[in-house]
Amino acid sequence: MESTLVLVKPDGVERGLTGQIMARIEAKGYVITKAKLETPSRELLAKHYEEHEGKPFYEPLLEFMSSGPVFAMQVEGNRVIEGFRSLAGATDPTEAAPGTIRGDLGRDWGERVQKNLVHGSDSTASAERELGLWFADA
Ligand code: CMP
Repeated sequence: MESTLVLVKPDGVERGLTGQIMARIEAKGYVITKAKLETPSRELLAKHYEEHEGKPFYEPLLEFMSSGPVFAMQVEGNRVIEGFRSLAGATDPTEAAPGTIRGDLGRDWGERVQKNLVHGSDSTASAERELGLWFADA
């Protein structure tokens, strides 16, 4: 059994899509084992996105991610890391396939950052690291 970190980003929370996103995760058979709503600090985001430091979208990404509440979840299931990324769809909502969270619900905002509704860890090492950051006290 694997665990992954799923974030509903500020665009998803603001648009009232958290419930629909949770329903898709549960309908797929995954189990939400921890959850909290919080506006992340820049310190947390700098650690979370350390691999993107220096990229052109890094500063706007931190600005966007700290602009409002994020709904963070620990999600468990067999091959859930790969499975959630496939549920989420491609990073760019315009390119994401219909049937995926970003393909069905994501918008193209015409901005430099991809406001793409959700984040899912991309490997077992990232999942362990990111869950440690977001649920350090849980
Ligand atoms: P996420 O899965 O949270 O990981 C990094 C984030 O950076 C990504 O989702 C997008 O929100 C954003 N991102 C990734 N690539 C780009 C890009 N080429 N241009 C703008 N934003 C990006």
